[in-house]
Amino acid sequence: MSRSVLVTGGSRGIGLAIARELKEAGDDVAVTYRSGEPPEGLLGVRCDITDTDQVDAAFKQVEEEQGAVEVLVANAGIAKDQLLALMSEEDFSSVLDTNLTGSFRVAKRAVRGMMRKRTGRIILISSVVGLLGSGGQVNYAASKAGLVGFARSLARELGSRNITVNVVAPGFIETDMTAELPEARQAEIKKNVPLGRYGSTTEIAKTVRFLAGEDAAYITGAVIPVDGGLGMGH
Ligand SMILES: NC(=O)c1ccc[n+]([C@@H]2O[C@H](COP(=O)([O-])OP(=O)(O)OC[C@H]3O[C@@H](n4cnc5c(N)ncnc54)[C@H](OP(=O)(O)O)[C@@H]3O)[C@@H](O)[C@H]2O)c1
Repeated sequence: MSRSVLVTGGSRGIGLAIARELKEAGDDVAVTYRSGEPPEGLLGVRCDITDTDQVDAAFKQVEEEQGAVEVLVANAGIAKDQLLALMSEEDFSSVLDTNLTGSFRVAKRAVRGMMRKRTGRIILISSVVGLLGSGGQVNYAASKAGLVGFARSLARELGSRNITVNVVAPGFIETDMTAELPEARQAEIKKNVPLGRYGSTTEIAKTVRFLAGEDAAYITGAVIPVDGGLGMGH
């Protein structure tokens, strides 16, 4: 049976791979996008997740076109890297506002319908650096670590309603975000990954498909690393 899925930041990168994977699994999939054209074959809803009214409008559109959201993938995220001593407060708070508060906004809006239906799946896309830490990324790492506490608290709130809340923590994945890193830094990263390579967006998407599916019905509050072993032990 197809479910109504919403993937934030599903216009490119990891989000797009997740959206395509869930579509292939038979679900009705909507993605948020901010500019340009939405990807073909998916329902595109214009939405900036830093704006509560836009989040509400996007959910209304999804509800009208494919029904209340049953699977939410909070994937949209940004990075603004800088050493703490040089980081502006704006660069700190804007990353928190998108990655952590943005996930709060969409999860809060999604649980209404899920609670009514007494079923739902929420999957938050964190990062290996949330638990491992990363110099130059205090804003990003704090936002991604915050998602773990958020998910585990929400998993406790919603477990009795048959709603699961899980976190996927990708390592370094081939996307625009990692392509921006200097080559020397990319080589250094790969040296520290036990599997010796970046991951693919498909490898994240397959994990999300599992968590969204029937086989993961008894998994909640989990943090699933998909990182080539980089964060082992965290
Ligand atoms: N790439 C990696 O190695 C890696 C590793 C660990 C975790 N992650 C996490 O995985 C997620 C996806 O990363 P990615 O590499 O695919 O990133 P990406 O290629 O930079 O794409 C980011 C996506 O988020 C959307 N987005 C950003 N700010 C938004 C906002 N305010 N409102 C709505 N959408 C917004 C973007 O939309 P627009 O197209 O409109 O800009 C885009 O679709 C992020 O949360 C990231 O932190 C990535």
